[in-house]
Amino acid sequence: MGGNGWLRNYCGLPCVGESGHQNRSRHNSGRRGAGLMAFIITTAQRKGGAGKTTIACHLVALLAKRGFRLAAIDLDDQKSFTTWARRREARLGELDFRLDENARFSPGFRLRKLDGAADIVIIDTPPTLDSVISKTMRESNLVVAPLQLSPLDLDASLPTARMIGDALAPGLFVINRAPPRARIADLIRSKMKELRLPIARTEIGSRAAFAESLATGRIASEIEPSGLAAKEIEKLTDQIIELAQPRLKAAG
Ligand SMILES: Nc1ncnc2c1ncn2[C@@H]1O[C@H](COP(=O)(O)OP(=O)(O)O)[C@@H](O)[C@H]1O
Ligand SMILES: [Mg+2]
Repeated sequence: MGGNGWLRNYCGLPCVGESGHQNRSRHNSGRRGAGLMAFIITTAQRKGGAGKTTIACHLVALLAKRGFRLAAIDLDDQKSFTTWARRREARLGELDFRLDENARFSPGFRLRKLDGAADIVIIDTPPTLDSVISKTMRESNLVVAPLQLSPLDLDASLPTARMIGDALAPGLFVINRAPPRARIADLIRSKMKELRLPIARTEIGSRAAFAESLATGRIASEIEPSGLAAKEIEKLTDQIIELAQPRLKAAG
């Protein structure tokens, strides 16, 4: 436990939280706060620039390519996700997912309005941990928290993990912009293990295709189909589908 009694990983589920077993039953029951049928994935991390929007854009497009009906909610006032989606729409003619723009309503209300229209909803959030994010996490079936292998990102991950745990939401930390070799990166990886943060199987490298994707409305595989960026994010998508599968089948 590394002196962090508040943080527990349990029963093989990628969850963090003090009330692990309650969490597990809510996870398996498949229904979170809003009683929705869709699988709800929120990207969250207190630190800006960690990769929340980049991962949200890739997940929404890749999961849509796998045949799921996708919807997205952009809770960040900076609207990076929405800007990417508009660029994508201009490029494709129409979006491959539904973009919810009812910004004056609460995330819970917006999720209820989307019920039945999407199999998976992706919620992209700002780099804050306020009550709106906390409520959103409580509605979520999975919180994806990207972090870079820097001490600042690790520091930001602890309150993020605590909020995920308090929301009884399954969490998955994704190492983003991983440097090929760096002693500090190895130290942070081992610290994450010691803290028992649930870490995604795949690390995402620092790749030009990811940087280009936000600027162009595309995803890595549309820029460089057989590049490393495309491979890494596909593997992350595979793991997320594995996590969502029981829930999607139950809704099925
Ligand atoms: N793996 C990556 N490789 C290269 N650039 C990245 C990667 N992840 C994110 N970026 C770039 O870093 C910046 C911040 O990423 P972003 O997803 O907007 O972070 P957040 O939403 O957490 O603030 C963006 O310009 C994005 O293109
Ligand atoms: Mg963002």
